[in-house]
Amino acid sequence: YGAPGTSKERTFIAVKPDGVQRNLVGEIISRFERRGYKLVGLKLLVPPVELAKEHYADLSSKPFFAGLVDYMTNGRAPVVGMVWEGPSVIKQGRIMLGATDPKNSGTGTIRGDFCLSIGRNIVHGSDSAESAEKEISLWFGGKGEVVNWTSNNEEWV
Ligand code: TYD
Repeated sequence: YGAPGTSKERTFIAVKPDGVQRNLVGEIISRFERRGYKLVGLKLLVPPVELAKEHYADLSSKPFFAGLVDYMTNGRAPVVGMVWEGPSVIKQGRIMLGATDPKNSGTGTIRGDFCLSIGRNIVHGSDSAESAEKEISLWFGGKGEVVNWTSNNEEWV
């Protein structure tokens, strides 16, 4: 399970606090479900600061890092963390999200349809096989937190 390039490829997708605050959790889940992807992990949490820092470790030298970590962890709204499974879900998930800066995100993408500012872009998605693996184990490291199950979609979608 989870191997990139297989039908069991997995990615980490999160609805960030602004997406939760704006009641877009269902909309975002719905887009992945309708596409035919399978939900194999789901949790609602205010992430600990250390988790957010590790998640965004690549950006630790950026001027926006402190604000980014605060926005993710201050508890004004929680984060919905998810693991989605299916063919090319890492790449397609990023396409479904749209560009990092919503001003460059195409209409029809989640960011292109629902937001305007880079600091409030409502969703996260792993950008590579390596980050998917890192992020899934970081957010869903506990035993049984990611579930293997068979969806009828696999026959029809
Ligand atoms: P990044 O990993 O570059 O983008 P993505 O989320 O599309 O993988 O950046 C992580 C988050 O950091 C991004 O979603 C929003 C925030 N961010 C800013 O607030 N300002 C910026 O200039 C950049 C590049 C990102």
